[in-house]
Amino acid sequence: MNVIITILLIILVIFILWQVLIRVLRRFFDFPAPAFIGKFLDSDFRRKMQPPDKIISRSKIKEGMKVLEVGCGSGAFTTFVARAVGDKGEVFALDIQPEMLKQIENKLKQPENKDIKNIHLIEGDALNMPLEDNTFDLVYSITVFQELPDKNKALKEMKRVLKPNGILAITEFLPDPDYPLKSTTVKIGTREGFILDDIGGNFWNYTARFIKPHN
Ligand SMILES: C[S@@+](CC[C@H](N)C(=O)[O-])C[C@H]1O[C@@H](n2cnc3c(N)ncnc32)[C@H](O)[C@@H]1O
Repeated sequence: MNVIITILLIILVIFILWQVLIRVLRRFFDFPAPAFIGKFLDSDFRRKMQPPDKIISRSKIKEGMKVLEVGCGSGAFTTFVARAVGDKGEVFALDIQPEMLKQIENKLKQPENKDIKNIHLIEGDALNMPLEDNTFDLVYSITVFQELPDKNKALKEMKRVLKPNGILAITEFLPDPDYPLKSTTVKIGTREGFILDDIGGNFWNYTARFIKPHN
């Protein structure tokens, strides 16, 4: 019993130290999550804690939509979204790190993903996206938003590429050392004129959904 308690305490201390370290570093430096964590991000263990179907329904991702994933990383959710939007929909998966995009590219070559033809990988910065205005029905990001060095600029970009009445869905997850409270995400999200539509999920795993107003 004592051994189990000691192990649990050690895990808890490492978790807290990790959270504190990253939050302190973020105050001084801008840096994206390193590409070597791609394997952990894209793991069944993670998807057990953050089921893709829940994120898809909370974000209101529907068949036929043209969607943009900002900060797709190693593609933990991208293939699920590609299947949810179906043959008539498209997923544009954008990330600033080519090493992350390489991981999705490899994933898409696996036999179980050979049927997926509607994902377009884009190397680019969320603060200056190489995408046309009024293009997407929905823009989503999962554990990315707090990593972006200029959130207002990123929101402006997301708004620019969304069609009028388009949806912006921001998902956050507590083990992420950048995790913000729901109130923080809502406060930031409603800047730049987005309207809060709904917040789904629980304290440690939630999606805040916003609408781009018509004008
Ligand atoms: C914590 S990972 C999350 C990846 C993925 N969304 C997931 O949930 O597995 C954050 C991702 O955002 C990307 N990212 C960070 N800053 C970015 C920026 N300015 N533009 C585009 N992507 C960015 C990182 O490269 C990284 O892949």
